[in-house]
Amino acid sequence: MRIALVNLKFPDRDGDCITIEDGFIAAFGLSGRYDRAFDLNGHTVLPGAVDVHAHLREPGYEYKETILRATESAAKGGITRAFAMPNVIPVPDCPENLFAETRLFERDAKIKIYPFGALTKGEKGESLSDIEGLSAYLKAYSDDGFCVNDLSLLEEGMYRVKAVGGIIASHAERRGAADSEAAEYEAVEEELELVKRTGVRYHFCHLSTKRSFDLIRRAVAEGADVTCEVTPHHLTLDKSMIKNADWKMNPPLRSAEDVRATVDALTEGVATIVATDHAPHSAEEKARAYEKAPNGILGFETMFPAIYTALVASGRLSLSRLSEAVTAAPAKRFGTDHGRIAIGERAEIIALDTTDARRYTAEEILGKAVNSPYIGMEMTGFNAFTMVGEKVLYKASDIKEV
Ligand code: NCD
Ligand code: ZN
Repeated sequence: MRIALVNLKFPDRDGDCITIEDGFIAAFGLSGRYDRAFDLNGHTVLPGAVDVHAHLREPGYEYKETILRATESAAKGGITRAFAMPNVIPVPDCPENLFAETRLFERDAKIKIYPFGALTKGEKGESLSDIEGLSAYLKAYSDDGFCVNDLSLLEEGMYRVKAVGGIIASHAERRGAADSEAAEYEAVEEELELVKRTGVRYHFCHLSTKRSFDLIRRAVAEGADVTCEVTPHHLTLDKSMIKNADWKMNPPLRSAEDVRATVDALTEGVATIVATDHAPHSAEEKARAYEKAPNGILGFETMFPAIYTALVASGRLSLSRLSEAVTAAPAKRFGTDHGRIAIGERAEIIALDTTDARRYTAEEILGKAVNSPYIGMEMTGFNAFTMVGEKVLYKASDIKEV
């Protein structure tokens, strides 16, 4: 099948169309006959994003979200691959439990999903999971949602993950220190000591404080094999904006100064990866009093517009740097592939509307959950089109098949 994408913009080259043949990019131009053609309305094409931090909630928490609806929402947001965090039931801490989850990915997922294996059994932080058994099926381990505070257990886990050639993604948070900034950076500091000692490949999830980034900067300079991610919300929102539990997540929104440090970390390349920490919860849970509501907000559909509006439109971050932080950088770190818009590559293409601003609404959310602080905000840079291979996974109403 031959598909033409016309009336589009490239971020970094001239031209306004792409020919796709049997799911592969065949030409930057048009010739001959086409089976289908889409008018992309002048939008800017980029490779689909790889989100290395997502909570899909299934199996076990279907009342919050399902794999089917979460991945439809991801495709709408321009995310074509995502890593699923292991806080589901059963926790994927051994191959059998993992298969309960991956069977559902195969059945329901609209985009490519990579599972995280749990680092400890049941994510309880008491004993290590079947790291070796899992390693036949995955290379990334995490106890996200929880921090492994037992440092000798963590160190043993580092050696075992290193031995299987894996990577650990850490939710660094010292128990007992509640939501404080120190809870994060003290855990980062302790874990970095072990990372240097063991030589494990290590990735810090959702860092949010200036001190954390200073520690990462120093560790990288010292040669530690460490990376970190920042989230769209810690880049664009601060704690003075909190209105209700749809603004509650872990780590929490920080001071404006920490937001500036988070932006600096990304623009200076201390943080090389942007990931959403997409964390759906039910309307009932989020309607509770702020203190009683669970942590976590949606991220898939607003990742591009939130960052585009706050950082790219203002010239603080280039679109190609943003794209790199959600494609090449996470793919390289987590050992996956990602789409490249080049001749001969499989099509994995999204298209951002970087001209029109519009308000994000609860009604448009494709997932089951609606816990987003971005609802009601006017933003630019929404994804309007997602295509993988020959499949159109998402098409906004302004994109016409012609
Ligand atoms: C996550 C969730 O809901 O699973 N919530 C969140 O606020 N990020 C767990 C976590 O990482 O804390
Ligand atoms: Zn976390």
